[in-house]
Amino acid sequence: MLGGKDASRVFTDDDFEEAPDTIKEAVSEKDKIWAPNSQVQIDFLSSTEKEVLFSGGKGSGKSAALLVDPLRYCNNKNLRGLVIRRTMPELRELIGRARELYSKAFPGVKWKEQDKLFIFPSGAKIEFGYCDSEEDLERYKGQEYQWIGVDELTQFKHEEMIDKLLSCMRSTDSTLPNHFRATTNPTGPGAGWVKRRFLDRGESGKRITITNTVKINGVERTFTLTRKWFSSTIFDNVTLVDNNPEYVAQLASLPDNMREAYLFGKWLPEEGLAFNDFAQNKNKIVINPFPIPQSWEKIRGADWGYSSPAVCLWLAFDPEGTVYVYRELAVNDKKDPNKCDAAEFGTRVLAAQEKEYVRYGVLDGSAWARRGESAPSAADTMIYQGCSWIPADRSPHSRVQQKLLIHSYLKCGTDSEPKIKIFNTCKSLINCLSTLELDKHNNEDINTDMDDHAYDALRYALASKPHNYHPTTPFRSFISSSPMAPINSVFGY
Ligand SMILES: Nc1ncnc2c1ncn2[C@@H]1O[C@H](COP(=O)(O)OP(=O)(O)OP(=O)(O)O)[C@@H](O)[C@H]1O
Ligand SMILES: [Mg+2]
Repeated sequence: MLGGKDASRVFTDDDFEEAPDTIKEAVSEKDKIWAPNSQVQIDFLSSTEKEVLFSGGKGSGKSAALLVDPLRYCNNKNLRGLVIRRTMPELRELIGRARELYSKAFPGVKWKEQDKLFIFPSGAKIEFGYCDSEEDLERYKGQEYQWIGVDELTQFKHEEMIDKLLSCMRSTDSTLPNHFRATTNPTGPGAGWVKRRFLDRGESGKRITITNTVKINGVERTFTLTRKWFSSTIFDNVTLVDNNPEYVAQLASLPDNMREAYLFGKWLPEEGLAFNDFAQNKNKIVINPFPIPQSWEKIRGADWGYSSPAVCLWLAFDPEGTVYVYRELAVNDKKDPNKCDAAEFGTRVLAAQEKEYVRYGVLDGSAWARRGESAPSAADTMIYQGCSWIPADRSPHSRVQQKLLIHSYLKCGTDSEPKIKIFNTCKSLINCLSTLELDKHNNEDINTDMDDHAYDALRYALASKPHNYHPTTPFRSFISSSPMAPINSVFGY
């Protein structure tokens, strides 16, 4: 329960029974403002893990518990909490509920509409915000929050957005937690990554421990992170079921899949993702950057676009044949007001690799398309200024073959490593592989209506390697028998 006179804690009934008389007296029955009404709300509110997800069907009491959770710390002037939804209209409903609850729990609380901020009598602050784009994210960067709550986590398509938000979560006050709390229905554009982050790692209600090893000045140190998730249904919220049987009937009459999700909180198998193998093994594939040894063979692959994104990836091969995507240049995002033309793209590619020896670059063949009678093609423009390319293989069936090739690099078992590693700085590629969907009409290929430019750059580069490549083969011997012979009949290099 949340006591009106001193709402410094959320009590479970057991807590309350064991509490000292002074506290029992301070929180009389009539002062009760809110109490958890299900075991799952109690468990969620009493979790000590750093990241906790309250998953479930409709109306199980997730948002109510999320709003209450930070209140227990609001007697501490140092608390800065942040409640997030993806968009502003969604946030309004939550703010309305918070205003009612927070003013009852802390009668002196002030609401600053412009800043969407509650200021509690102690000085503690809880901010409400939305985060639908990189620009929105900017508002929170550089701030410090001890408690971050996200309502409807699967509405966030990219895990990266949440990870960036969580980089603002830290505390120098040891009496305050560092807690990320989230709620979600089991559907939505981000269902895949949310499922992998929580559900695929452990059972409901059990602590998940994730260990990360970091090298600091040559010494390896291990850091652990704890997570937990809970499953719930509307049947946990007895009051709602008793008072609104028609609502339950309405959920029960939904089509099969939606009924499973909304009434029973069931997570449905992921469908349509083109690279499930990437998603499942992301923790093995995405790695921290390290200096690439000079002796490793390096190539680059690019997809050129002016009105659509242009992406260049740099790949290095270790002596065992594992490929490392170690650098990315991504420009001309649709929203980018400063478009980069072919000449500038070439300049930036050369600048990024500086004095590095990159064996060759492979570029989307359409970059050779003529622009008018006399204007050079985008590829010619780049080559003229020293940024050389060979055209990518666009022969019939190459799209399907190249997709299969990427799968062969991504493949790994429980005890084996994938043959591709991607530096975590290659954001476009990681986003692309995480979200690309299959073509609904041809499940051997991806849906090309999506942002697939980084994927294209990767497949062009990987497919440019001779298929009989074996790591022990000296590079020159399979590029051509003579070092001076052109490697490609269209464009010598
Ligand atoms: N402990 C509680 N005491 C009183 N009412 C509660 C409690 N928990 C939830 N409720 C009420 O039950 C209803 C549903 O709760 P809530 O909105 O939190 O569910 P939800 O799981 O977030 O639903 P959705 O999946 O639709 O977002 C709300 O009217 C809320 O006020
Ligand atoms: Mg809710």
